[in-house]
Amino acid sequence: MVGQIEKKTKEFTPQELRKINERLEGKPPEEILRWAIDTFSPNIGMASSFGAEDVLLIDLVSRQAPAVRVFTLDTGRLHEETYELMEQVRTRYGISIETYFPAHEAVERLERGKGLYSFRESVENRRECCDIRKVEPLRRALAGLAAWITGLRRDQAVTRTETQAVEWDETNGLVKVNPLVEWTNEQVWDYVRAHNVPYNTLHDQGFPSIGCAPCTRAIQPGEDIRAGRWWWEHPEYKECGLHR
Ligand code: ADX
Ligand code: SF4
Repeated sequence: MVGQIEKKTKEFTPQELRKINERLEGKPPEEILRWAIDTFSPNIGMASSFGAEDVLLIDLVSRQAPAVRVFTLDTGRLHEETYELMEQVRTRYGISIETYFPAHEAVERLERGKGLYSFRESVENRRECCDIRKVEPLRRALAGLAAWITGLRRDQAVTRTETQAVEWDETNGLVKVNPLVEWTNEQVWDYVRAHNVPYNTLHDQGFPSIGCAPCTRAIQPGEDIRAGRWWWEHPEYKECGLHR
């Protein structure tokens, strides 16, 4: 899909980006989305892991531009609850969800060589698995796009405090738009409840942040919202390579 459309590249100088971000500072996510869609459509796609933020964004987009593509990286290790939610979202919003799988040869090589849980052994092994199951499929999903939309928020993690609404994604060579960058977890959940947005049932079982099943656990009261992601690693390392 995304790879087959003609690329309409739109590059910004650092000064232009700063001005755009100054203009969008404090603006509601709808406005940031509107700017992104007006600027890049049809060469824009939304990356969804079906966390509360991502379904909220699908809900917002469905109100203003139902044609925006939604893609997801199906790592092959997601929770059953996540697949159930994807199906619910697909029917509720009448959208097609473009799934990207990892390259099967790479997964076969990894599992045959290092077993099914190599990611527990070292940060290096964990990154290898994320590279195969997430980063390479992301590269394919983004091919041909001029911009992608994510559900990143500044207060999600120590690694995200500098995130801007509009950024140049150096690794993938396109613009990244983060409409919820200024929102708190509370604002996300207020919206989800007010608009009856479908959400992953794991959120009610102590999982504020959901990734692959073997790398996500429930958190205890008072723990950081990403404490259950790769819980055996130091917070500074907790990025899978999608957001460098
Ligand atoms: S992660 O990098 O640690 O997994 P997180 O779960 O916080 O990221 O999600 C941040 C954003 O990255 C999501 O809002 C979504 O835009 C994108 N993202 C993360 N995982 C996926 C996935 N499996 N498929 C598509 N997009 C994803
Ligand atoms: Fe592999 Fe875990 Fe990364 Fe998923 S989150 S790709 S299972 S290391």
